[in-house]
Amino acid sequence: MKILITGAGGQLGRALQDRFAEHRPLALTHNELDIGDRGAVLDLASEAPEVILHAAAMTNVDGCERDPEAAYRINALGTQNLALLAQRCDAVMLYVSTDYVYDGKKGSPYWEGDQTNPLSVYASSKLAGEWYVEHLLSRFYIARTAWVYGPGGNNFPKKILALAETNPRLSVVTTESGHPTYTPHLADGIYRLLESGAYGRYHLVNEGSVSRYEFACAILAAAGREVPVDPIDHYPRPAMPPAHVTLSTYAARAVGASLPSWQEGLLGWLAAEGII
Ligand SMILES: NC(=O)c1ccc[n+]([C@@H]2O[C@H](COP(=O)([O-])OP(=O)(O)OC[C@H]3O[C@@H](n4cnc5c(N)ncnc54)[C@H](OP(=O)(O)O)[C@@H]3O)[C@@H](O)[C@H]2O)c1
Repeated sequence: MKILITGAGGQLGRALQDRFAEHRPLALTHNELDIGDRGAVLDLASEAPEVILHAAAMTNVDGCERDPEAAYRINALGTQNLALLAQRCDAVMLYVSTDYVYDGKKGSPYWEGDQTNPLSVYASSKLAGEWYVEHLLSRFYIARTAWVYGPGGNNFPKKILALAETNPRLSVVTTESGHPTYTPHLADGIYRLLESGAYGRYHLVNEGSVSRYEFACAILAAAGREVPVDPIDHYPRPAMPPAHVTLSTYAARAVGASLPSWQEGLLGWLAAEGII
């Protein structure tokens, strides 16, 4: 099967390359393909991809808030470009989206059809990307994931461990919760989702949700770092994250594409980074 991976240099892009290695995917980094360049994207029709795994995005949430046009160019119109390529090649497309499309105020787990209400530019640009996929294609998957971290990435666990090196105690918010999701688990879920042939919208996250505070405590404990963590209510930043997003993973489980627990993900990451 001929597979195209966008954002191949990113956390998930690298894990997708590993998981789909048997297919020798055409894996393009940002330097090799700017998804915002429609001509460059459509030129890839000559490669005749049968499956497009679209992981590229502007993921700096605060950066998106500061530069909304860049966010829309990459996350919304870049995704439109990939969907147009998929249309041209009759390829199946998998678009990686985000739990930030929800506002986190529901008070119970979200289902894939629940009302979205993006609170940030990043979230609304990713939701606009979903719109293009849904309206331009009939054979697609939308995988909404959350709190992504993988080996070699600049992610929350890495930042917590770095802060613990230089600070006698840390302060982390209890007012934001979600599903920490480990990239090799996510890439495997994507692999199994594609095998299912059951097109549609899915929550693909490690099982279980936690607050940022609880996750930070778990990271430090598992890494054997004895740095106290103070729970706080507020951390000032340009973009507003959703408060408490718990995602139902029933649909993914029903097609055999669910992920292990977030605790297993954390242990996998610590081992992959050589920390434990
Ligand atoms: N990270 C999270 O917590 C999180 C949560 C929910 C959903 N997601 C979604 O999951 C997917 C993968 O995220 P990730 O954590 O792997 O992010 P990542 O590590 O930031 O990877 C994204 C990749 O996209 C590339 N990129 C940015 N602009 C591009 C452009 N114009 N053309 C081509 N490539 C471009 C980036 O390259 P540069 O680094 O050179 O810019 C980077 O290699 C994204 O769709 C993201 O929206 C992420």
